[in-house]
Amino acid sequence: MDVIIRPTAESAEALAAQIIADALKAKPNLTLGLATGATMENVYHKLADMNKKGEIDFSLCKTFNLDEYVGLPAEDRNSYRYYMNFHLFDRINIDKRNTHLEDGMAADLEAECARYEEMMEEAGGVDLQLLGIGLSGHIGFNEPLSSFSSRTRAVNLTPVTMAQNGPYFDAAKGEKMPNRALTMGVGTVLDAKKLLMLVTGKRKADIIAKALEGPMTSMVSGSAIQLHDDCTVIVDEEAAAKLTLKEYYHSAFANDPKWAKYR
Ligand code: PGA
Repeated sequence: MDVIIRPTAESAEALAAQIIADALKAKPNLTLGLATGATMENVYHKLADMNKKGEIDFSLCKTFNLDEYVGLPAEDRNSYRYYMNFHLFDRINIDKRNTHLEDGMAADLEAECARYEEMMEEAGGVDLQLLGIGLSGHIGFNEPLSSFSSRTRAVNLTPVTMAQNGPYFDAAKGEKMPNRALTMGVGTVLDAKKLLMLVTGKRKADIIAKALEGPMTSMVSGSAIQLHDDCTVIVDEEAAAKLTLKEYYHSAFANDPKWAKYR
């Protein structure tokens, strides 16, 4: 695993966007695994800017998102389909038919999850999976005790996650956060060829230290990335506050030739 500490959230987001852009330039028919959440918004806006300037082309790119709420239609402003359209897909030259999220409105959720896994397999698997981490330690919506071999399935959201995402739902307008979601499993995520995790802000300092430097445990789903042999984690200084090997991460980034173009 490579851990890269950037001085600010903005510089961490810019680096994540640049790594994704370079992967797309190297493989125009890239299959990208995408994540939602506040952390990713600027990454998507930066990718959209690069697309607008003609620096990157999404016309052959396919995408699969990690997760979607159960019971929210695409047009609901809190659905992850809505988020993806708003922050990325409507701003770039991607063919929407190549963009995939689980359908949280499906009558048969189990069949929907099996269909999603099949589609990923037919696409040849995910080349590069973007990840955040939640305060519960989740990647996707894999809450504590998710098996490291879990696949796409319906899950129940923890009180920590309900508290983290609840504020996005406007109760005055009758909006209610679902307490269930469909998510790629931890095993599904680990099948991606490369993982790119982005974590910013001081409220994430404890959980990211547990995930990266703590023992691997299903109590912290994010710790499963320690099993992946091609994994880059970008954190800003605030999120890095509790990491014990900070000096080592800084010197590795400063010296390793593979990071030369990003320094
Ligand atoms: P955030 O969500 O980017 O809104 O912090 C990340 C997550 O919960 O995975």
